[in-house]
Amino acid sequence: MSEPAETVGFLVAGEPSPEQRAALEWCAAAGVDVETISLAAVAEGGARLAAYDVLWWHRAEPADDAIAEDARAALEAFLGDGGGLLLSLRALEAVPALGIDPVGPDTAGTEAGTTGLLVKSLRADRPVFEGLEGLRVPTASPEAEQPFARYQGILPHRGAVLASTLRADGERPHETALLGWRIGDGDVAGLGTGVRFDEPLPEEAARNRDRLLRNLFAVLGGRDRLLEHDPGGTPALSADRDRLADDHHRPRYHVSPPGNWLNDPNGMIKWNGTYHAFYQHNPGGPHHGTIHWGHAVSDDLVTWEDRPIALTPSPDGPDRDGCWSGCAVDVDGTPKILYTGGRDDVQLPCLATATDDELTGWKKSPENPVIKSVPVEPPLRSSEHWRAEFRDHNVWLEDGVWHHLIGSGIEDGGGTALLYTSDDDDFTDWTYEGPILTGAAETDGVIWECPELLDLGEKRLLHVSNYEEVRYYLGDYADGSLEVERTGLLDHGAFYAPQSLRDDDGRWLTWGWIKPDRSHEFQWDAGWSGTLSLPREIDLDEAGRLRQRPAAELTALREERGYDGSPVLTDERRDLPLDSRSFELRAEIRLDDADECGLVVRGSPDGEEETLLRYTRESDLVVDRSASTTDHRASSEPISMPVTPVDESLSLRLFVDGSVLEIFANERHCLTTRIFPTRPDSDGISLYAAEGRAVFEDLEVWTMGSAWPNVGAERERERGSERPVGPER
Ligand code: FRU
Repeated sequence: MSEPAETVGFLVAGEPSPEQRAALEWCAAAGVDVETISLAAVAEGGARLAAYDVLWWHRAEPADDAIAEDARAALEAFLGDGGGLLLSLRALEAVPALGIDPVGPDTAGTEAGTTGLLVKSLRADRPVFEGLEGLRVPTASPEAEQPFARYQGILPHRGAVLASTLRADGERPHETALLGWRIGDGDVAGLGTGVRFDEPLPEEAARNRDRLLRNLFAVLGGRDRLLEHDPGGTPALSADRDRLADDHHRPRYHVSPPGNWLNDPNGMIKWNGTYHAFYQHNPGGPHHGTIHWGHAVSDDLVTWEDRPIALTPSPDGPDRDGCWSGCAVDVDGTPKILYTGGRDDVQLPCLATATDDELTGWKKSPENPVIKSVPVEPPLRSSEHWRAEFRDHNVWLEDGVWHHLIGSGIEDGGGTALLYTSDDDDFTDWTYEGPILTGAAETDGVIWECPELLDLGEKRLLHVSNYEEVRYYLGDYADGSLEVERTGLLDHGAFYAPQSLRDDDGRWLTWGWIKPDRSHEFQWDAGWSGTLSLPREIDLDEAGRLRQRPAAELTALREERGYDGSPVLTDERRDLPLDSRSFELRAEIRLDDADECGLVVRGSPDGEEETLLRYTRESDLVVDRSASTTDHRASSEPISMPVTPVDESLSLRLFVDGSVLEIFANERHCLTTRIFPTRPDSDGISLYAAEGRAVFEDLEVWTMGSAWPNVGAERERERGSERPVGPER
C-alpha cells in the first residue's frame, strides 16, 4: 500500500499555521494529492466533501470546539458514506465536538521526549502498520517539543487503541498514541502524538512517519479497514482470543482475558444455572490501567465464552478512573454489583444493578458513591495514590441483615477488614460497624485487599490479599468480630485476590488471579496478561483444617490418558511417554529412602529448558524455575511450600497449562506459579529420584481440552461475514 492514490482534504480553521504549512509541503513532496479545505466552508455546506477520500485535520494548537461543532453534521455525513478522517496532534481533542465519541482525550499539551509509537501486538498485523518494523517504531525527534493529545487515565467509549507511546526514557503503555473508530461505513484515526513536520527528524523516524501517514491515507481512503471489528463487541473479543491461540504461553483451560489485561476475579455468581466470572480488565492494553469489568460465562464450570465488557468507567462518575474490584449479590432475585469507583485520589463504593438475566447490562446507581466518605475511626492508611486505601467488597446476608466488608489498612498499623451493615435491599444506606479483624503490620501486611469472609460451617474463614500473599484466618465470627484460631496461606505463589461463590450444592468455589511474573515489555509483546486460577473447592476436613481441592468438574476436561501406572525409580530419571503443555498429573508420591524425588515439566529434549518440582526430605515442595526459560524477562526465582508430613505419601495434583502451573498437595497446600519456556518443544514430562528409591503410586497423566471450544467456530463465522473492502467504496 505504498503508492499514494487517495485524494486528501486538509482541514484548516483560518490561515494555515506553520506546522500545517509544513504538513502541506510534506504532502507535496510525498506526491499526496491534497487540497486545503476551510472548516468554515465545511460547516456552511460549501465544501464538496464527496470529492475526497480522506479528510485530515492536523493541528498543533488546542482544537477549536466551536468550529468542530459547526462542521459536525457535514463530517458525519461524509463518514456515514464511507469517508475516512484523520485527526492528528491536538485535533484529536475535537472527538466529542465532532460526535465521534462522547469521551475525549483527558491529557493534552506540549512536551519533549516522545520518540514514536509502541504498537499493540494484537493490532500489529493491521494494514496501518504495514512496512513498519517491530512494535517499537520511532517516528519523532525526542529533542523537539511535541504537541500532543491522548487518552491516558481513560479510554474512548467507542474507539480502540492501536498504539501507545514510546519515549526516550522508556515505554508508556498507558499513553495512547493511535486510536481508531468506526463511524458508519467510515473510519476515523486519532494520531495524538509523534507526528510533526516543521522540525527535522532522524532518518529512520522520518521514514517511519512517512510510511505511517501513507498507510493511514490508504486505509482511511478505503483500501482496508483501520480496525478488524467494532471495538468492544463479542466478535472483536473472540478475534483477539483466536489471534492469541498459537501463543504457547497462553493457558487453554483457564479463564484468560480475550486479549489485553486481567487481574482480580470479580462478581463471581451463579445466576439461572450459569456461572458468571467478571474480572478486572484493561481493554486498552496488557497493563494495569483504565480498569473495566470483563465478563465470561460457563454452564459447566469448565468451558467458557466471552461476553462484552460489563462495567465501564463513567467519564463524569465517581468511577471515572476505574471500576475496581467488587462482588455480585443476589438481592431478593435481583443481581447487584458493589465495586470500588476511583476518581483522582478518592476510592469509594459504587453500586450497579443488572438490567437483564444474562448479566450483560448493568445500570449504575444515581446515588453513587453509595458510601460517601471513609470512616474516621480508626484512621485509615493513605498512600501516594489514595487519600485513604479503602476498596473491594464482600457482601452476605446474615440474620436478615446485609453485611459488607471493605479492605483497608490502619494508619501506622496493619491491614484491616471494615464492616458495614444495612437492613435495606437498596444497598445505598450502610452503617459503619468497625473492623472485624486487624492484622499486625509486620506479619499480616499493611493493606488488606479483597477481604472475603466465608461460612465454612463449623468455622468462618477470612482471607485477605496483602500485596505479597493471600493470608487466611480461620475462627469464630460473632458480633462483628472474628476470633482467630489458625492462620496460614491460601497459596504460596502467584495466586492473588481470590473471590468465591456458593454453588447450589452449598460448596464454596474460589478463583484467584494468577499474576504475570514477567516483565512489562514481555507482557506488551505478548498482547495479554493475567489469568484466573482453576476453581477450587474450599472447605474443612474432619480435623477442622482448611482443605483445598480442584473443582470436581475439571475432570471433564481430560482428553487422553497419556500414562497410568505406579513406577518405582531408584537414582534415575525417566521420561513419560507423552509430551504436553496442557495436562493434569496426579500421583501419590513416597520418598522411601531417596533424598529427593520429583517431576520435570515443560522440558526440552536436550534439557536446555525444564522446570523441576522437587520433593525433599525437608518435606518441602520446591518449584525450581532456574532453567524454566532462557528468556531473562521472566521470573526465575524458586518457589516452595511446606507439605508435611513427609513419612506419609504426598498426594499431588498438578495442572500445567501453557505458562501456568498449579499444584495441590495433600488437598491442603497450594502453589501457583508461572513459567515461560521459549522453545515450542519444551513439552516433555519426566520423573526422577535421587540418592535412593521413590515411588510414584497411581500416577496418571491426562492431556486437557480447551476451555474455549467455540473460539475457532466463531472465527470461521466472522471470516464468512467480513465485509468486502476496496474498490466498491
Ligand atoms: C487487587 C487490587 C484490588 C483493586 C484491584 C484494582 O489486586 O489491587 O485491591 O480493587 O486490584 O485492579
